[in-house]
Amino acid sequence: MDKKELTCGLIGCGNLGTALINGLIDAGVPAKNLTATRRHTEALAPLKAAGVAVTSDNRWCTERARVVILSVKPYNTDLILNEISAGIDPKHHIVVSVATGIDTARLAAGLPEGTPIFRAMPNTAADVGQSLTCISHLHAGPSEIDAVNTVFAALGKVIFIDEELMDSATVMGACGIAFVMRFVRAMVQGGIEIGFDARTAGAIVQQTVLGAATLLADGNAHPESEIDKVTTPRGCTIAGLNEMEHHGFSSALIKGITVSFEKIGR
Ligand SMILES: NC(=O)c1ccc[n+]([C@@H]2O[C@H](COP(=O)([O-])OP(=O)(O)OC[C@H]3O[C@@H](n4cnc5c(N)ncnc54)[C@H](OP(=O)(O)O)[C@@H]3O)[C@@H](O)[C@H]2O)c1
Repeated sequence: MDKKELTCGLIGCGNLGTALINGLIDAGVPAKNLTATRRHTEALAPLKAAGVAVTSDNRWCTERARVVILSVKPYNTDLILNEISAGIDPKHHIVVSVATGIDTARLAAGLPEGTPIFRAMPNTAADVGQSLTCISHLHAGPSEIDAVNTVFAALGKVIFIDEELMDSATVMGACGIAFVMRFVRAMVQGGIEIGFDARTAGAIVQQTVLGAATLLADGNAHPESEIDKVTTPRGCTIAGLNEMEHHGFSSALIKGITVSFEKIGR
């Protein structure tokens, strides 16, 4: 679908919603095609200045948009569905929810029968066009899938998954940003201990993480084969790596992921 034809409404434009709108504008969606809502609209002044329609009227937002994205906190979702449902035309609108833990069956219960419904789990890297967004859907055909793919492909990479994996996707993609950030911070702290100022250590870690990710993404490499390339027998890399493993490096990460997953399911 042509991005210029996309009309999109963001209901509940807070942290993630703002990242999504900024990503869409950067990707070439005209600002005039976008509508953003929240109750305290003064916080949306920068979007208004960029040409986005800003309002606290969620119904007006649905009138202006084909793709309606609900980006409120999960506990506000039912209230919003109740508010907009009467204005949703299943033949025209597409409803997308990014709320954690709200499944498509619950969304369908609050919308007219047959409304194409999507659950999307992006992450905050949408702000810089580098989100990983996992998407599942209900009652959607090729044209609706194409429209929603256009929205989230503008913000980074998209993977369509079965809905039963959506909680796992939340942990890996959305919580994953925090896991990687903590890894980065720890590596910077180590760099400072061995002589760098925080700024230089930060620059080294950022580029090293980006380089490692690019080796995997563009070079189609496997992590272990890249590790083999840099671990000289009796060398410093293998010594450091094994010391980390003795302290439970991989195990801590795997356990953290499974605990996050258990918490989400409760
Ligand atoms: N942050 C992430 O990385 C991430 C990733 C994936 C999914 N999610 C999901 O995305 C959703 C939003 O997260 P967030 O971090 O962006 O939260 P947030 O910053 O709190 O944004 C939610 C916004 O909803 C607005 N709102 C509340 N009631 C409203 C109403 N009746 N009408 C219109 N707007 C209303 C609030 O603004 P006002 O108070 O001004 O109305 C607030 O700015 C959550 O469901 C979360 O689970 C987040």
